[in-house]
Amino acid sequence: MLKISETDEIVFAPELITKFNEIVSRYPEGKQKSALLPILHLVQAEYGWVSTAAMDKVAEYLHLKPIEVYEVATFYTMFFLKPLGKYVLEVCRTGPCHIVGAEKIMKHIEQKLGVREGEVTADGLFSWRGVECLAACGMAPVLQIGPEYTYYENLTEAKVDELIDSLRLTTAEKPQIN
Ligand code: FES
Repeated sequence: MLKISETDEIVFAPELITKFNEIVSRYPEGKQKSALLPILHLVQAEYGWVSTAAMDKVAEYLHLKPIEVYEVATFYTMFFLKPLGKYVLEVCRTGPCHIVGAEKIMKHIEQKLGVREGEVTADGLFSWRGVECLAACGMAPVLQIGPEYTYYENLTEAKVDELIDSLRLTTAEKPQIN
């Protein structure tokens, strides 16, 4: 993942442009705007977040007005509009998860990581935030981690500890917890 700041100029790598082109080719001529969501996902996977400069470059690439990109990126909460940690623990806080302890899980994550919601740990590895229903209510409480949106279910404080410790140890493989 490439690290960028709000003021950095964005030049998309040729490999990324190739992926953009492949996505655009799925849609009829003149309907390139349909590629906007998957392209924003690719941009976030590349940089960890979606800066204004990156949105402007996406607009340029898709021949859209910048506002057309901003309004999509700001509507969908899965797009991060500021730099966050390498791993963003998104904890479902909606009714069913709330009832079975989502608040407690978020408090625990806050204490374990030593940062508040939306902040980044000093090592740049972690952020966390509460999100709405992740559609896995039967396995509540639940959290997800992008960019693959891996789910961790039936959470307990011990499982959260195991997950965070495991992520600290390895960035190569999806950590396994029971
Ligand atoms: Fe948490 Fe649905 S309420 S996954």
